Amino acid sequence: MVHLGPKPPQHRKGTWTDVPASFISELHALEESLTLPVETLHKITDKFISELDKGLSKAGGNIPMIPGWVLDFPTGKESGDYLAIDLGGTNLRVVLVKLGGNSDFDTTQSKYALPSDIRTAKSEALWDFIAECLKKFVDEEFPEGVTEPLPLGFTFSFPASQDAINEGFLQRWTKGFDIEGVEGNDVVPMLQAAVERQNVPINIVALINDTTGTLVASMYTDPEAKMGLIFGTGCNGAYYDVCGDIPKLEGKLPADVSADTPMAINCEYGSFDNEHEVLPRTKYDIQIDAESPRPGQQAFEKMISGYYLGEVLRLILLELSKEKKLFFQGQDLSKLEQSFIMDTSFPARIEEDPFENLSDTQELFQSVLNLSTTAGERKVIRRLAELIGDRSARLSCCGIAAICKKRGYTSGHCAADGSVYNRYPGFKERAAQGLRELFGWGPEIKEDPIIIVPAEDGSGVGAAIIAALTEKRLKNGLSVGVKK
Ligand code: BGC
Repeated sequence: MVHLGPKPPQHRKGTWTDVPASFISELHALEESLTLPVETLHKITDKFISELDKGLSKAGGNIPMIPGWVLDFPTGKESGDYLAIDLGGTNLRVVLVKLGGNSDFDTTQSKYALPSDIRTAKSEALWDFIAECLKKFVDEEFPEGVTEPLPLGFTFSFPASQDAINEGFLQRWTKGFDIEGVEGNDVVPMLQAAVERQNVPINIVALINDTTGTLVASMYTDPEAKMGLIFGTGCNGAYYDVCGDIPKLEGKLPADVSADTPMAINCEYGSFDNEHEVLPRTKYDIQIDAESPRPGQQAFEKMISGYYLGEVLRLILLELSKEKKLFFQGQDLSKLEQSFIMDTSFPARIEEDPFENLSDTQELFQSVLNLSTTAGERKVIRRLAELIGDRSARLSCCGIAAICKKRGYTSGHCAADGSVYNRYPGFKERAAQGLRELFGWGPEIKEDPIIIVPAEDGSGVGAAIIAALTEKRLKNGLSVGVKK
């Protein structure tokens, strides 16, 4: 394997001869606070490893480390037709997956944009919306009707406690969701009831985290896959542990599950360092947290994931213009003052701007924020976008390195999905570089032994495979949850 892609942008601290002098000291201070040297990455990774262990212990810790009750590795031989849905980002996805049984599959899918107010709607509105989408999809795909209820794998991309594969008690909403009446409850019967109200012939077989789905889907086709990772609206990772190494399951394992039975763990590591001991948070991160629906939660995720990257940039620009009176002088800042007006595509488009004079960035600011920009301002904005993207990618490596070190992986593929991984310019190269630094691979290493690779479709194919594995266990009279 060769090093992936071009080298990440070099830090250019101190070379700002072409922007106004008044910007320089501000810029240097921002560079300082957003740059993560390898020593910091090591410190974060070390704490990460001990927090992963703590999460598996009886006492527990900040990182939930949820056993996902996927107790088998996929073999590639799983077959059959399954429905899968994915709730957790900006869209609801419904997928019909035909598993071929030879590490192959076919998918047909529809995407439904979540209504803009659903993140804060009432619980029934959410479940009814999903059930209506499912009805539309099933009516289109099965116009003749079905003889048996369709088995469905429900990818629910939030921290949900599971004592069995077919349940999930929402611990807390993340990613700006704040729907009343769901936290603390099992989401499976809620969706099943809504589906029944719509008369759709569906049986929810398994509840799956998107990272677990990603892990299993990738293992279906790639024997080197070691973990499933999402860098999207939120961030998280899953890997396989063995039941005997999960102290909090002691005394709860059913008789047919032995100490060496594999168990997929949904780490929920977006909550790493909620106690704020090692992450170098800036005042912008602190403000984002304080103004979020769940302050104090998802500390790591709030510095990394797509839901927040544009907001970090917005807060910095607001400070530079409103408080420091350096940027956008004499202009109407009302748009820039709107929280979350800049989603992640905003810094991504700035970084993608191919023009020397950053004319795409100029147009973006004009059209979305009604702000005109000087050439000097645009240079600084571009640098800020780079810094925010680089910080996200480098922090992301700490979770990966921690899982590798914990499980003793010295080689393998880390299967990643999500909008930031797939679409944020430079993320892949920066993350690869971060891993090289963390593992100390110098130029003498021609092929990185641990690489991040694009995942198979976890929330579709992964959910389907897990549904198939679950049906097989049930058919064989095997357990899919704690000792009853
Ligand atoms: C959720 C995880 C999910 C991740 C990526 C986080 O906010 O808590 O369950 O895996 O986002 O979607």
